[in-house]
Amino acid sequence: MTKKRIGILNSGGDCPGLNAVLRAASRACEKLGWELIGFRDGFEGLLLPGDYMILDRRTTAGIMHLGGTILGTVNKGHFVAKVGAGDRAQVPKEIIAQARQTFDALGLQGLIIIGGDGSLTTALQLHEEGFPVVGVPKTIDNDLEATAMTFGFDSAVACVADALDRLHTTATSHKRVMVLEVMGRHAGWIALHGGLAGGADVILLPEIPFDYEKVAAEVMRRDREGAKSTMIVVAEGASVRHGHQHRHATASGEHRLGGIGEIVGREVGERTGKEVRTCILGHLQRGGAPTTLDRILGCRFGVKAIQLIAEEKFGSMVSYQNYQTLDVPIAHAVHKLRRVSADCQMVETARSLAISFGD
Ligand code: F6P
Repeated sequence: MTKKRIGILNSGGDCPGLNAVLRAASRACEKLGWELIGFRDGFEGLLLPGDYMILDRRTTAGIMHLGGTILGTVNKGHFVAKVGAGDRAQVPKEIIAQARQTFDALGLQGLIIIGGDGSLTTALQLHEEGFPVVGVPKTIDNDLEATAMTFGFDSAVACVADALDRLHTTATSHKRVMVLEVMGRHAGWIALHGGLAGGADVILLPEIPFDYEKVAAEVMRRDREGAKSTMIVVAEGASVRHGHQHRHATASGEHRLGGIGEIVGREVGERTGKEVRTCILGHLQRGGAPTTLDRILGCRFGVKAIQLIAEEKFGSMVSYQNYQTLDVPIAHAVHKLRRVSADCQMVETARSLAISFGD
């Protein structure tokens, strides 16, 4: 019998824990006597003549603790099957045909696609075109409805908490208000979890529109009570009541969220007369070593993906529910964002800790 060969790729923004998935999938393959081919730069590696490397014990040794991905990745490229929020575009037929040729030439019998909502939309199209695809969810934003948790999120939250710890000491020394803008796109999970873990006083989320007057009142209330600083965490997708998210156009014609931190800082400074400083955490949240939780999730997701290939559960995606790795159809997973609900237990817990949401 010929050796089974499986392909794997990661697409979209990188995320701590990706290398743990690659390493785990490679070891699970080895155990079955299979071979794993890793495509470089996301789906682009599938373009003719094919750009890939063998993922085996040697090439994946010592990578679990490394951030990023040894395969490289791209956000955009020839395989974009999603444009903007909810709009679906199709990957062009000639691009699919190239991927088919690469896939066949390498004699692959399965393709694991690690990605967020956009990449999983492409994965779904490839599956519909007859590719034996298995998906692995990946995003620091933790905003996929179909899985309770994605690797990368915990590392991003740890980065936010660490930043708050550092900002806290300098803010307290200077009796300042500190505004920390964090990632998360349209979901406030990173801000909520990071803010809670880092002892924020105010957390502004996309899901709970805020008023500057309320935020300023909270700063002044703390001031009257003798607090030496106020820490405000603002999610990049947060917006003022009846306002819009702050976004800016990029050269490629897309819109990127960000910039709300500066505005919050200015508005709060003007209303309180306090000295305010703003820090945009940015891609620090995406870089660096994954936390132990993300390494473990990565290991479990990689092994589960190979199991799904072995069971020929094509068109399915690894999903983490109740501490178990399960599977769901990719078709049920895409275009369903999980956002913070204003009355969820985490928000209630934060309110019980006197954290203000500026609402
Ligand atoms: O989806 C992950 C994420 O890091 C978001 O939190 C953020 O808005 C975006 O990607 C940044 O993307 P880029 O790396 O393209 O700037």
